[in-house]
Amino acid sequence: MEFPFTINNLFKEKIVKLKYDLLPNGFRGERRDMIDCASKISQILDDMGRASAIAQGLNKPITSGERLRNSEHLVYLLIDPEGKGTVVGLLKVGSKNLYVYDHTGAHHEVKPLCVLDFYVHESKQRMGLGKILYEHMLKEANVLPQDLAIDKPSENFLAFLFKYYGLEHIIPQSNNYVVFDGFFADRPVMNGSAKVQSDHVKDTFDGIPPTVGRHSAFKPVSTMGAILQNVSVNPYQNDGTVPRIAPDIIRPVMKLK
Ligand code: ACO
Repeated sequence: MEFPFTINNLFKEKIVKLKYDLLPNGFRGERRDMIDCASKISQILDDMGRASAIAQGLNKPITSGERLRNSEHLVYLLIDPEGKGTVVGLLKVGSKNLYVYDHTGAHHEVKPLCVLDFYVHESKQRMGLGKILYEHMLKEANVLPQDLAIDKPSENFLAFLFKYYGLEHIIPQSNNYVVFDGFFADRPVMNGSAKVQSDHVKDTFDGIPPTVGRHSAFKPVSTMGAILQNVSVNPYQNDGTVPRIAPDIIRPVMKLK
């Protein structure tokens, strides 16, 4: 995607990580330069966010400058430095509190790193650029593909995850997030319900060594949180089976299999 300013003046690296300040890592300049840079980056995020929403058939963008400014999310941009430079890809991630079921139907409160938005410009799709961007994020966050929760993945993204990481078996959830086999592999499980922390992800991102391991703190399931997420605190029915999950939510699972 092209912009009415020179991308190569803004970004010196091929993959740029952005946070709430909307400035590239190591930005140096006077206040006026800082405002100008943040405003251009905001425009990039708005335009790429809009293009991503259109590509996914969403009625409003998930990513914008304003949204990033007001969150702890991270956005990775992939730059093609040819000519004045263009922005060819966007990947947004962030930690979220989620209630998820494991294979046995046990219900867990977790705070995994989530993939929130992923887009490669139409003219550059299926050339391996998405993989470059995704691999960069995995390395930086120090996570495995199966550790992530994905917010409503598209068919293209599901195909991508299967192709590169063999992720195929989805554990059905009662929210829009998709987690795969292996998501619980190194997470401790307590009888029925557990709180599993992955704060190391955020710590790793901030460049601060983790002071508290993600498995260290357990607490009971929050009833209020469960109500807010519209899920049952006790996932078991009277006969001990797991309740049926709404068909629209498991649709991606059915299609994939
Ligand atoms: N149809 C089917 N599979 C696709 C498609 C497609 N149109 N596009 C990508 N893929 C999958 C395939 O596995 C493909 O391999 P193949 O070409 O051998 O079949 C593989 O991804 C290609 O890998 P890359 O080239 O590394 O990925 P790309 O640069 O195309 O980026 C992405 C992948 C981001 C999913 C891109 O296709 C895209 O922007 N799609 C439209 C927007 C979208 O669906 N984003 C994900 C939304 S869900 C979310 O953000 C949480």
